[in-house]
Amino acid sequence: MSTLLLVLLGLLSLILCVLRGRNRREDEPPLIKGWIPYIGKALEFGRDAYSFLEEQKKKFGDIFTVHIAGKYMTFIMNPLMYPSIIKHGRQLDFHELSDKVAPLVFGYPPVMSRNSPGLHDEIIRTFQLLQGDNLTALTESMMGNLMLVFRQDHLAERPGEEGGWKSGSMYEFCNSVMFEATFLTIYGKPVSASRHSEMRTLREDFVRFDSMFPLLIAQVPIRLLRQTKVIREKLINYFLPHRMSCWSNTSQFIKRRSELLDQYDTLRDVDKAAHHFAMLWASVGNTIPASFWAMYYLVSHPEALEVVRQEVLDVLNLSGVEFNRDKDVTLSREQLEKLLYLESTINESLRLSSASMNMRVAQEDFSLRLDSERSVAIRKGDIIALYPQSLHMDPEIYEEPQTFRLDRYIQDGREKTDFYKDGQKLKYYRMPFGSGSSMCPGRYFAVNEIKQFLCLLLLYFDLQLEEGQSRVTVDSGRAGLGILLPSTDVCFRYRLRTV
Ligand code: HEM
Repeated sequence: MSTLLLVLLGLLSLILCVLRGRNRREDEPPLIKGWIPYIGKALEFGRDAYSFLEEQKKKFGDIFTVHIAGKYMTFIMNPLMYPSIIKHGRQLDFHELSDKVAPLVFGYPPVMSRNSPGLHDEIIRTFQLLQGDNLTALTESMMGNLMLVFRQDHLAERPGEEGGWKSGSMYEFCNSVMFEATFLTIYGKPVSASRHSEMRTLREDFVRFDSMFPLLIAQVPIRLLRQTKVIREKLINYFLPHRMSCWSNTSQFIKRRSELLDQYDTLRDVDKAAHHFAMLWASVGNTIPASFWAMYYLVSHPEALEVVRQEVLDVLNLSGVEFNRDKDVTLSREQLEKLLYLESTINESLRLSSASMNMRVAQEDFSLRLDSERSVAIRKGDIIALYPQSLHMDPEIYEEPQTFRLDRYIQDGREKTDFYKDGQKLKYYRMPFGSGSSMCPGRYFAVNEIKQFLCLLLLYFDLQLEEGQSRVTVDSGRAGLGILLPSTDVCFRYRLRTV
């Protein structure tokens, strides 16, 4: 054989080897590669992640590795194994991954870099300001801001409208109220006005940016996404330090973050503004669709809505407050905690609409213990993923999982926390907020603000769905990224209640 032929054969086998990708080792989970080099199973996964994973689970069992867009992702499909994964903090890291993707999405320089020593840890420390005692101030402020937006936009009767029904689009309604009230609570208001005059434009730009979010997370370069780069610049500019310095009533959380960012000379004003913009996305990107689903399930289940409304009135009465629509409502953190049916409504809506994926990167080759009998080998750089939607929709854990049940999370007059799989009690049975080290630090605030929003809706309005609409389904375009959006908006009617 000539030397040339040998070289050609060598090259061919090298190419074939690269195209075939890696092979499964004996102690590793089953490997699902797909036939398209690099892409692997990305297209099927992207089309409908939930169905794809369920199908693989039927074929390969509770744990398998999938080749997706050049990455090897090991999915753990049995929720009984979640605790051992979540425990593996040392070998499985979240923030390295998020620090690769978030800067591309929001436009700030990577946080874990030599240029900003300590910044990452300090940022994590600021998350405490969303919880504990600080939650009381945030919740009070949110109540006032919700009341302000309700009063000025929805409670004043216009001439000719007395007692009449108004029509609205439900998602748009939730979006306008929750976006503005959350913004005012977190970032504050202009010193000389109670509301930001550019709020509508800001929100519309945000919605346009948000519609590109799945592509940005998939690391599609922003310059390929038409106007998105310009819109992002506009959104970031809203948070430039000279503008934010003209706002008052800013939360301690944002004040602390501004002080912290100011300590780093390497950060330009536009980088600091991009951090604030990212936090805007974190604070409303999931809260708005979550508010929508909770409102939708209540309005489409009038008997459930009545139970919750009565519960809210009872809690107010218990504190000696008789609801009167001319007076502003205040519901303290303690009162919100007493609203069991409302809490169950929100948790049930989150269960039905959330499709977040919890990802960790293996920091070294190691053996991942799954339960008392089984372990699998994991390679450095691989991603370990939990996909809680499959737990939320498991009929063994949740009877009739597609159905909204008001009392799903209530038992004997308290919160129900025991759910079972294979006869064993689950530690993790509802995971809309992620898990372990990357668990959402805004989760208590989010639930409180959705509660407050629903309380005001139920206290002030009679609410109905417009007739002739089919049941709304989820749009899976954001699968893996958080709360799913509805596939269409919903027409509803509302009128001031006569109290
Ligand atoms: C219903 C509403 C919300 C849902 C479902 C939600 C969900 C999540 C999830 C799943 C994560 C983890 C991401 C991951 O592991 O990849 C996360 C992280 C985060 N969330 Fe939320 N969130 C909500 C509301 C909020 C609010 C209101 C805030 C702030 C005011 C907030 C701030 C954050 C932050 C800062 C992180 C990043 C944490 C980190 O880097 O360690 N979230 N959220």
